[in-house]
Amino acid sequence: MNRHLTLLLLALLAHNVANGAAEIPRVVRQEGRMDLIVDGKPWLILGGELRNSSASTPEFMAPIWPEMQSLHLNTVFATVSWRQTEPEEGKLDFSLVDAMIAGARRHGLRLGLLWFGTWKNGVSGYAPNWVMTRPDLFPRLSATALSPFGVATRDADARAFRALLAHLKRVDGTRRTVIMVQVQNEIGTGPDRSSLARASFAALVPDLLITQLAAHEAELQPYVRDRWVGQGRRRSGTWTDVFGEGPATDDIFHAWHYARYVEHVAAAGKAVYPLPMFVNACQLRGEVFDPKLDPIGGPVAPVMDVWMAGAPSLDIFAVDNYHRFKLQAAAFRHRGNPLFMPECCGWWGDDPHTAPAKALYSFGEHHALAFSPFGIDNEMYRGHLLSVTYRKLANIVPVITPLRGTARLHGFFRTDDAKSESFDFDGYRAVVTYRVVPPCTDGLANDRYGSFGLMAQTAPDEFLVLARGASIRFTSADPARPALVNLGVEEGEFVGGAWKVKRVLSGDEVGGQGAECTLTPPPWSSQRVIGEEPLVILRLRMARIPAYEGLGATK
Ligand code: DGJ
Repeated sequence: MNRHLTLLLLALLAHNVANGAAEIPRVVRQEGRMDLIVDGKPWLILGGELRNSSASTPEFMAPIWPEMQSLHLNTVFATVSWRQTEPEEGKLDFSLVDAMIAGARRHGLRLGLLWFGTWKNGVSGYAPNWVMTRPDLFPRLSATALSPFGVATRDADARAFRALLAHLKRVDGTRRTVIMVQVQNEIGTGPDRSSLARASFAALVPDLLITQLAAHEAELQPYVRDRWVGQGRRRSGTWTDVFGEGPATDDIFHAWHYARYVEHVAAAGKAVYPLPMFVNACQLRGEVFDPKLDPIGGPVAPVMDVWMAGAPSLDIFAVDNYHRFKLQAAAFRHRGNPLFMPECCGWWGDDPHTAPAKALYSFGEHHALAFSPFGIDNEMYRGHLLSVTYRKLANIVPVITPLRGTARLHGFFRTDDAKSESFDFDGYRAVVTYRVVPPCTDGLANDRYGSFGLMAQTAPDEFLVLARGASIRFTSADPARPALVNLGVEEGEFVGGAWKVKRVLSGDEVGGQGAECTLTPPPWSSQRVIGEEPLVILRLRMARIPAYEGLGATK
């Protein structure tokens, strides 16, 4: 960073501190990870996204807020509709945003606002009536969708978005209840064959895209790299010259133009109030893009490089993760992009009981920044295990946050027939054996939540585990000290930063009657001990010792 910029930032910080303002939320990239900083500290979003229409009146939201609090969310993702914000051209109404901020503050929650502007799920159902009734000014690509080649549409959306961000700065620039903004929603649609699109397709590929592909060639997703390399890494030419004939070129072309449109909107907002911004992708139906099934042009993993080149104002490329959860989670960790899910779970045939498992897996195995089931205001989340999961997770967030980006944090959940899985830590290996298959019962009566957990190596010989429905056997991965001694297992939680023991676990509750380094987190069976919670935090301390006579023999 140059000296002038540093001085400017320091001056701004000093100004904010003098005014009692909280630090503006921001994302920070560092070796192996990205952090979201809120109130000056790393923040993991234990979130939920409201149904599309819930935030359309304060009255409808009134009974929902306390439910969000009792689910132990720290962040709610909520819609801001362009149509409701600018019902008449140039007349902006932010009363719903104000009501949302007030509601969130009253319930100790933060907000991620979702700008449903030109597109929501590929179509334009949230664009104002004065836009949708003027196709001469605001061109369409179909009866229901605006074209990404409409300059007047883009500018109108950017003006409204900038006004929203200016308003947020005015009403929330001290408290920072709103921590991020999503720009549009699940972009991507059928191909744009308008005359504007055809003219653009016949033109040369912009230099900026080719320069960025060349700069990142080694890291590009094969979908784009193979086409560009296959055409001889051309530094100029039309879209078919540079990427060849075929549907993939159409997809890359559309991705670029949607990205440029969104960049214009996002940059306009950031110029007045630089909150972290992201886009969300509707996930692909299969493993690779299929033009017959998938909407084209959206920020999905295969074209993320095109979006990164075209929309540098975006901080994060998020995935709405409803199917083939593990595969999608891995696909979006690309070129430093973190796993961030504003939507997931319990929709499109996905079992909502799997949300707690997916939360711990995402934060543990993929070091996610955000986990957020969609339709969090659905009745089904009342009394759901997600509430306890978030409460326990929040308790250990200060301990696990510094481990993100290292091999000392892992997570698991059972998705198929796998009986067991192994995880390597620093000097240790953990073998997880699954006991419960979701959504069946496998020994735990009426249990549909399955086997899952998160494991954190909090010191060289100490682990914290938040898990259920599985046993976890630790072994030494240190050849000089191949034997392990169990120094004690406790159930507990952190109170004021200090570990407080609730129960000392041994005998039946630990492998080998307490003598082995095997955790068997409750519930052990359908019979729960009085006062026992459905998910507990365990701390295990061990010692690695040299080989001795009798090692390996059983009692
Ligand atoms: C994905 C969208 O992004 C959400 O707004 C919502 O429509 C869900 N699908 C459920 O239909």
